[in-house]
Amino acid sequence: MSHLPRLTFAIISHPDAGKTTITEKLLLFGGAIQAAGLVKAKHGGRGTVSDFMQMEKERGVSISTSVMGFDFAGRKVNLLDTPGHADFSEDTYRTLTAVDSALMVIDSVKGVEERTRKLCEICRMRRTPIITFLNKLDREGKDPFEVLDEVERELNLQVTPLSWPIGQGQAFKGVYNLLEDNILLFDAHATDLEAKMIDGKDLDSAEVKGHIAEHLLTKLKEDLAMIRGVYPTLNQADYLKGTISPVLFGSALNNFGVRELLNALAKYAPSAGAFATEQRLIQPDEPTLSGFIFKIHANLDPKHRDRIAFMRICSGVFEKNKLYTHPRTGKTYRTATPLAFMAQSREATDKAYPGDIIGLHDTGLFRIGDAITEGERLDFKGIPAFSPQLFRRILNKDPLKSKQFNRALTELSEEGVIQVFTTYYSKERLIGAVGVLQFDVTQFRLTSEYGASCSFEGVDFNIACWVSSPNKEAWDRFFGFYENKIALDSKERFVFLATNRWTLERTMEDHPQIHFAFTSEG
Ligand code: G4P
Repeated sequence: MSHLPRLTFAIISHPDAGKTTITEKLLLFGGAIQAAGLVKAKHGGRGTVSDFMQMEKERGVSISTSVMGFDFAGRKVNLLDTPGHADFSEDTYRTLTAVDSALMVIDSVKGVEERTRKLCEICRMRRTPIITFLNKLDREGKDPFEVLDEVERELNLQVTPLSWPIGQGQAFKGVYNLLEDNILLFDAHATDLEAKMIDGKDLDSAEVKGHIAEHLLTKLKEDLAMIRGVYPTLNQADYLKGTISPVLFGSALNNFGVRELLNALAKYAPSAGAFATEQRLIQPDEPTLSGFIFKIHANLDPKHRDRIAFMRICSGVFEKNKLYTHPRTGKTYRTATPLAFMAQSREATDKAYPGDIIGLHDTGLFRIGDAITEGERLDFKGIPAFSPQLFRRILNKDPLKSKQFNRALTELSEEGVIQVFTTYYSKERLIGAVGVLQFDVTQFRLTSEYGASCSFEGVDFNIACWVSSPNKEAWDRFFGFYENKIALDSKERFVFLATNRWTLERTMEDHPQIHFAFTSEG
């Protein structure tokens, strides 16, 4: 049975670069919504836990923005939301394990920023193909060559521009399409969705000169000569390997360059790809179903403790009411109401295909990384825990509620809200996170959902590495030396806790036979 090829991607960016705006505009140009301003309120109130929890509650009712689906150019597009504001957490990292490509949005005024660096690192690690969009060209920004240099240097990602801006800020006149040699004209006051396009093969033509001032044309000619001399032409295979990123320019707020961006995604971005498991490589065209859970969304209403598990379909067809296997426990799983995600709603779906994300009702069966299959034992690779950058010691403030406290820590770590470590000798519990809000969320949920309470203490650790060694002697020596810096994660794997990168590097040098990994998968 045929189905549209999937285009499953996520946007990576630093807060304020324009992710929300671009998401909305992509939906608008994709025909999924009729007018801007309908998609969602911007992730409200940055920074405070109550705003965050309110947002999460609302999401519990309408998770529509977690995955936005629409059809475009003969493909079904699945755009996965990556929480990107104060709610930055491992969820954001993990979402990237469920996509086939990424769209990197960079604010042309600010260039490459910290969050982009982190998220891009995950994509690079997974060899995820990346298309880059330089946004906010209507504002005075950095020189585009400089920004592209930053991308190449800081993100270790080669680039190849598909378009090039003509002027910037007040003087922004449009973009030159390097593949088609035409010019898309920018008009800050345009009300029409479609920008005017003129032929750009002859930059001395009367038409071109009628729209663009002489000095900008001179600059454009120089830029084009430079681009053609410096950057390689796009090679699809290199893009698919994740080593080169096509770059487009625009101004999402002004709808400018978004259609071209969507066209480029539809043209270049890969369809559902293969997934690695411990056992074998899973191809999307295999007939039997397989998929994995990459995110669990708790229902924050304490009266309804059910959760929604987000599953990425990797092969086969998911059908409602069919009996599947949950290989980790050997249990069977069946659902009458799997949820599909459309641009503004979630709705029950009968079938889902490789590349799709579906929501499964979960009463506590699933953990992040779990597989669902038709019986085969599969352990998906690449859904790791990521080295946290923030640590706190967590203390149970109410000894009578130890059971609730322990259950909360187990469940919150299963959901991926936090990582829980137990120090090897002193058996203290440490919480690891990548965003500070994860601690606030832990405290809030511990109280409101479990009736327990906790406090946090600072600890002198800032990096966690998963450690192992095939050499027992070397391992024993290492262990003996650092016994107070070793902890176990929730899956009983050994973790080395370091104060800073410098001490970590020294330890690594001193113990060359120990393998240090920055994700739980090494
Ligand atoms: P984010 O999700 O990545 O955090 O970014 P978001 O889209 O919310 O955009 C951040 C700010 O940048 C918003 O302004 C938005 O209007 C603005 N913006 C997005 N794209 C462009 C662009 O192409 N040009 C210009 N000049 N601005 C752009 P804000 O004032 O923070 O919020 P709002 O009140 O406009 O929503």
